[in-house]
Amino acid sequence: MSANTLEVNRTRFRFDDHEAVWLFGYGSLIFKADFPFIERRSASITGWSRRFWQGSHDHRGTLEAPGRVATLIETPQARCKGMAYLISPQVFEQLDFREKNGYLRFCTEMTFDDGRHAQGLVYIATPDNSAFLGPASESEIALQIATATGPSGPNADYLLHLAESLRSLGDHDAHVFEIEMQLRLALGSCPRALNPL
Ligand code: SIN
Repeated sequence: MSANTLEVNRTRFRFDDHEAVWLFGYGSLIFKADFPFIERRSASITGWSRRFWQGSHDHRGTLEAPGRVATLIETPQARCKGMAYLISPQVFEQLDFREKNGYLRFCTEMTFDDGRHAQGLVYIATPDNSAFLGPASESEIALQIATATGPSGPNADYLLHLAESLRSLGDHDAHVFEIEMQLRLALGSCPRALNPL
């Protein structure tokens, strides 16, 4: 599948007849909410793990030196913590553009921290997209992230902002926190001042 998902997303899971739709974010959508939303709540989804297995050559890397960004991998019993946003369906046009490098819209059930559930959408980069990089050890991922940079800034900022946000949500994501530790070693600074978003 082509890495550019813009056209195909326009045909997937449209909620035009809804007044508002829940969007579940687990990567940059947690820490960079540059879109209008009505309300946000921390939430989680089950059966998925966050992994830095998606390549980024339009935001946090280049075609020659792709960065690594988060996607979700099916993992029975796993729980992925993130942020849910209630948005108007028109906002998906902006989000489809932002997530066009391999991410497809999927329907999901999410659970808010108070135990209530809602159906909504999540963007997932599946292994069949041509920008997918797949598994690597946390230290290999950290080394790639340490050197990659793209139009949205250094790849390291993506990882460090995400780790900080997960900590403030009270989450412990062993994969993300191990990459963070290895990344800080690779960058030779601990703690590192984050560039503003
Ligand atoms: C998400 O954050 O939910 C999708 C991946 C990303 O934009 O980083």
